[in-house]
Amino acid sequence: MRITPSGRQDLTSQEDSSSTRPGWLWNTPRHVAIIMDGNGRWARKRHLPRIVGHRAGASSVRTIVTAARTWEIPYLTLYAFSWENWSRPRQEVDGLMNLLEEYIDNEIRTMVDRGIRFSVVGDRSRLPASVRKKIAWAEGETIGKDRMVLTLALSYSGREEIVRAARNMAQDVQKGLLSPEKISETVFSRYLETSVLPPPDLLIRTSGEVRISNFFLWQLAYTEMYFTPTLWPDFGEESFRQAIEDFQERRRRFGKADEDIEGLPG
Ligand code: IPE
Ligand code: IPE
Ligand code: MG
Repeated sequence: MRITPSGRQDLTSQEDSSSTRPGWLWNTPRHVAIIMDGNGRWARKRHLPRIVGHRAGASSVRTIVTAARTWEIPYLTLYAFSWENWSRPRQEVDGLMNLLEEYIDNEIRTMVDRGIRFSVVGDRSRLPASVRKKIAWAEGETIGKDRMVLTLALSYSGREEIVRAARNMAQDVQKGLLSPEKISETVFSRYLETSVLPPPDLLIRTSGEVRISNFFLWQLAYTEMYFTPTLWPDFGEESFRQAIEDFQERRRRFGKADEDIEGLPG
């Protein structure tokens, strides 16, 4: 069932009441992950410095987090800074780190009030001490919040996460805590830093690039992918809704024959 745009507006403005969930919000993804790309191109189009694009991107983050929370999506993961992004010019990296601190400062109250748990995955050791401190503080402030988990992938590399899991597992084998025969997909995934998150149902990448850029390599095995040319600073609530509606049209087979999928006509 679809409802009219005006009906959608009216309903989404009423927060925190599942009885007022907009009609189009059936079969929503449990976990949405987003590769937020295109800030630089957004700025270049306007002859502005890249950091202005990142600032506009932070405003999109606010919009999308609010929408996800209102639509009762339990897990939202945002790829904010890759391990490879450390090779960008110092000035851009510093600007991004400052923006991140600013974002946490500005949003912490909203996160606490709306029951959003904040968490970060990635190699924190490379982050400046002040950013590490701010992240730890925000994680502490929002601990136990259970309406939505907002995860930022920061200084993150999918391959590095897998290598780290393998290393930790090898150490447990060496200590006699784990026998190699017991290693299965389930056991392996427990060693991943993201083990507490369900795999994403929907991955969105903005800016027209059609690649994963070392994001969730393990976790995306059966994720539905949605690529849009829209640049991240232009990606608003309506774009997000379109991505979710596209997801709702997908037939997820997980390798099965269509006829064997529960709830679908043969
Ligand atoms: C995404 O925008 C933000 C980060 C990777 C930090 P980009 O900065 O990659 O923007 P483009 O791809 O150059 O347009
Ligand atoms: C991927 O974007 C990382 C983030 C969005 C944080 P990039 O802009 O770094 O990716 P490539 O270099 O185009 O693959
Ligand atoms: Mg990019």
